[in-house]
Amino acid sequence: MLPILDSLGNPSFSNSAVSGKAASDEAFSDRAVSDKAGSDRAGSDKAGSDEAVSETAGSGKSGSGKAVGDKTFSDRALSDKGVSGKAFSDGGVGEAHVSDAAGGRSAFRNVVSLGEGNTPLYDLPRAARRLGLSRLWAKHQGMNPTGSFKDTGMTTAISVARERGAEWVACASTGNTSAAMAAYAARAGMRSLVLLPEGEIAWGKLSQAMDYGALTLQLRTDFDGCVRVLAEVVGRAPVYLLNSVNPYRLEGQKTAAFEIAEQMEWQVPDHLIVPGGNLANSSALGKGFLEMKHLGLTAKTPRISVIQAEGANPLVRAFREFGAERLEAVRAETRASAIRIGDPASWRKAVRVIQETGGWVEEVSEAEIALAKAEIGAEGIGCEPASAVTLAGLKKLVSQGKVGRDESVVLVLTGHVLKDPDYTIEYHRGELLTEGEKAGLGAEIEGTRRNAVGVEASADEVLRELERLAG
Ligand code: F0G
Repeated sequence: MLPILDSLGNPSFSNSAVSGKAASDEAFSDRAVSDKAGSDRAGSDKAGSDEAVSETAGSGKSGSGKAVGDKTFSDRALSDKGVSGKAFSDGGVGEAHVSDAAGGRSAFRNVVSLGEGNTPLYDLPRAARRLGLSRLWAKHQGMNPTGSFKDTGMTTAISVARERGAEWVACASTGNTSAAMAAYAARAGMRSLVLLPEGEIAWGKLSQAMDYGALTLQLRTDFDGCVRVLAEVVGRAPVYLLNSVNPYRLEGQKTAAFEIAEQMEWQVPDHLIVPGGNLANSSALGKGFLEMKHLGLTAKTPRISVIQAEGANPLVRAFREFGAERLEAVRAETRASAIRIGDPASWRKAVRVIQETGGWVEEVSEAEIALAKAEIGAEGIGCEPASAVTLAGLKKLVSQGKVGRDESVVLVLTGHVLKDPDYTIEYHRGELLTEGEKAGLGAEIEGTRRNAVGVEASADEVLRELERLAG
């Protein structure tokens, strides 16, 4: 191993850490949370001292997050907070200087930000009415700068990479991590290496990695294969690893939990529903909510439930078949390409979150995902397919009586509707699903389809179409 790897402090990326079979994880017990709020093991053992974690995740992110993430901030607001300069000019790096308690310049000079966070919490009135719920919201993490929840973790992790002097950063990805990493690396003046499963990435995401200037390699394997290759690359070249085994990513991804609590005036919802792929996001959000409760900021945590696609359901199987004690990797297959993951790295952490908060795991079919996505679109919001598993899963939890009609629910929408336009267009053209897949949902699906119609360039033709729809 090259010496520079140690100085970069790459998280341990042994197969055991990657496959989540790492040693015991105490991060979510109250004690562990209070002992070391930032440190989080399956791969964090070498990722930096507790001191580094608290400096970055504690004072670093939350201190600057407010000022830097506030899209309406003015110079006056900045000076009120002890911040000088314009945060996003000239690369977005190093301009938000924050005076520390001693009055000196702090480590904030390494903050790399694109103005992430402060994403909207939308209500979903039509879906709520159909389900008989009175309080249903969507926390739309797709409204972040690169269009997915990855940005809140990338600002922290890239800032750490910059602080450590990394020249190259790298990840394996189903698309969104690579888009976020490439963008933040570009802002920081770093080079980035992206490993993607060939032919399995939504165009929006692939185009982002290219546009932000990453070295983008498409490997003839799946996501899990890309992770394995990257583990070896990181051991042989001086690159800083930015997969979600990097603990700073998870620290940053807690942001959405804090925002939800703040947006709901510290009355957290009864239920939080999260898509499950590599299982980092559910882990991070759980950690955020548990920490807030521990600190006395909130009275409780939501029940956190994780939803997977039927064809990529290793966590569901782990619960069903092994009492959540063991996870067997599966060969993943789903059109929701973001969560086409068979061997999730953070499964133990997700198990702990589900168990400690009293949530559930559930799986949903391709047709259920597609219908839910169209319904979220019809609310004027939209999301990418992987995000729609949340609404599809909620329908099941309501029908099973696990979510009560008087309870409040927040769905975490993880990616923007424009990430995967092919999927959306195929759905509305009626070309996405097979007849077999649609079974039982055919009428509902037909009711949501809005194909684009080709007509002659005449007002008569346009009016005929209008009448046809009205009639
Ligand atoms: N939703 C979207 C849109 C995602 O991109 C991902 C993961 C998930 C949900 C699942 O989150 O992995 O934390 O459980 N995307 C990763 C990537 C794997 O490479 O972009 P998770």
